[in-house]
Amino acid sequence: METKHTMELSQQYLMPVYKPLPVAFVRGQGCRLWDAEGNQYLDFVAGIAVVGVGHCHQRVVEAIAAQARQLMHTSNLYYIPPQAQLAQRLAQLSFGDRCFFANSGAEANEAAIKLARRWAGQHRGDDCKDIVTAYQSFHGRTLATVAATGQEKFQKPFHPLPPGFKYVPFNDIPALAEAIDDHTCAVMLETIQAEGGINVPDDDYLPAVRELCDEHGILLILDEVQTGLGRTGRWFGYQHTNIQPDVMTLAKSLGGGFPIGACVAGEDVATAFQPGDHASTFGGNHLACAAALATLEVIETEGLVENAARIGAVLTQMLQDQLGPTGLLDHVRGKGLLLAVQLADSISAKETQRQCLAAGLVVNALAEHTIRLVPPLIVTEEECSEAVQILTEAVRAVAGD
Ligand SMILES: Cc1ncc(COP(=O)(O)O)c(C=O)c1O
Repeated sequence: METKHTMELSQQYLMPVYKPLPVAFVRGQGCRLWDAEGNQYLDFVAGIAVVGVGHCHQRVVEAIAAQARQLMHTSNLYYIPPQAQLAQRLAQLSFGDRCFFANSGAEANEAAIKLARRWAGQHRGDDCKDIVTAYQSFHGRTLATVAATGQEKFQKPFHPLPPGFKYVPFNDIPALAEAIDDHTCAVMLETIQAEGGINVPDDDYLPAVRELCDEHGILLILDEVQTGLGRTGRWFGYQHTNIQPDVMTLAKSLGGGFPIGACVAGEDVATAFQPGDHASTFGGNHLACAAALATLEVIETEGLVENAARIGAVLTQMLQDQLGPTGLLDHVRGKGLLLAVQLADSISAKETQRQCLAAGLVVNALAEHTIRLVPPLIVTEEECSEAVQILTEAVRAVAGD
């Protein structure tokens, strides 16, 4: 189907919650995408940090195909072999002991919120159900996760929202200390605020949050939906510090492109959930778990965590070396391959994104003057060099150079 036809059908038949760019990809391989007209694109968005292993990784494709032929779905009424193996693997890789599987990041966070409240009900009493989150956070689009998201623009049209959330500025320990009271059961944060602008906290922030949580006997929930699974150059974002959360959520890159989310917790907290407390028809199905198991294997065997750390540093340097001298770069921030290119105030990120796309590079305009780069973790130095060249030319063109 021609791109034009896809656009026409989408505009006529889809609820208008998205405003897509004028492109429809039909094929992908590694860091490359193609549209129906055969145009090739270098992908530095990776489905918004989803396709860490690259598009259509052979191992993941084979695992999905084999599992699809064998058995796709039964139910959590029965044991599910790949789900059991995936839970074991995530427990081995992280602080966690047990998992609940969902289908998305928002659902993983819903599970974490319910788990924290269930735990609090058992350990702290029924009037201790509040969760403190951060302004500029992003935790999802369901009602509870919109309530957890400290950004009014996502909340305003959808009131009434579930109560029990309080917000504090990110990276501000005194504000958090002030906000925690006898009704608080948990603090929920991203290790780097991703959608909110790639906001990296100070090195001592998460350790101080952990200390506060311990002092008050409350849970620390880390939303690693975007930062998890190698993206920041460690398996999980919290591993840049010496602390561990009580609960962690994952999604995005867990399935190598296939939808799956996970809520991971230590034994004491995880077992606050009892049969009947939470469930999902599709969560942890055979197909999604087979995809995730293959994805974890690829991340490990191909050294993608290390690659993200190494290439992230190389890409940052290239951006500084090539974009810097134009005078149109403010700075680059982020960790590993979760990067924000902060452009000069005169440069529109949306216009830059459009110019890049026209030149065959997919980047994401995250804010007015911010470009997000979240390529697949398999990205090479050559691909980074190509991307930085296109991006530099695009920024120059936007500036009218
Ligand atoms: C940190 C974080 N949490 C949760 C979500 C929501 O994930 P999903 O869109 O899979 O529901 C996102 C999505 O961008 C995210 O970045």
